[in-house]
Amino acid sequence: MIKPNSLIEQLKTLRPFMCPFDIVLSHITNTNEKKILDIGGGDCSFLLLINKYKNFKSLSGIDINISEKTFNICKANNICVYKSNSLDVFNQEKYDVVTIIDVLHHIKIEERIYFIQGAFKLVKPGGQLVIKDMNDRPIFHALMNRIHDLIFARESINYFNFKELENYLESSDFNIIKRGKKIMFFYSHYWLFCRKQIPE
Ligand SMILES: C[S@@+](CC[C@H](N)C(=O)[O-])C[C@H]1O[C@@H](n2cnc3c(N)ncnc32)[C@H](O)[C@@H]1O
Repeated sequence: MIKPNSLIEQLKTLRPFMCPFDIVLSHITNTNEKKILDIGGGDCSFLLLINKYKNFKSLSGIDINISEKTFNICKANNICVYKSNSLDVFNQEKYDVVTIIDVLHHIKIEERIYFIQGAFKLVKPGGQLVIKDMNDRPIFHALMNRIHDLIFARESINYFNFKELENYLESSDFNIIKRGKKIMFFYSHYWLFCRKQIPE
């Protein structure tokens, strides 16, 4: 009989068919950009893709939950990972690119603005902020994702509405360069590619 943990591991291999990693990856430019940070990177699969297809000099990740296996894989690939529930570990550090993929809907509503403002501070002026999350529309797909997270993450999620997030970014010091939405399998996704303004 397949153990629940090994079933979850097997299902993770299907993630590229359910999540538009390719779109996110294709929009990350790194002509002069050297440092990337992935917030809530889980098993670091996205940073491993970055390592393979882009040429950043420094790759870092943070998550509240990092397994020993992930630590070992990251070490072998020169990826620096932190297990923490606070972005304060980065102190005054700034990154050329900060990514937040499928994390916001896992953050409690009352903590979300503090969390996102913490992420904003980590982006260098002129740097990129990439947010990809689950869309709360269409309702059927939002419900399917809610059920997915109830089963696999044992969490009742809180969608960060696309329009609300877009307005919030635009009222902060970010310009939205590209936005998009896509349904893949049962799941409805949105993404926002932003640049932090450079103070005059
Ligand atoms: C759906 S998974 C996404 C993982 C990865 N970004 C990906 O796309 O494969 C959500 C991740 O967010 C992490 N997470 C939730 N709250 C967090 C927080 N406050 N700070 C950092 N990571 C967090 C979880 O531990 C989990 O690994």
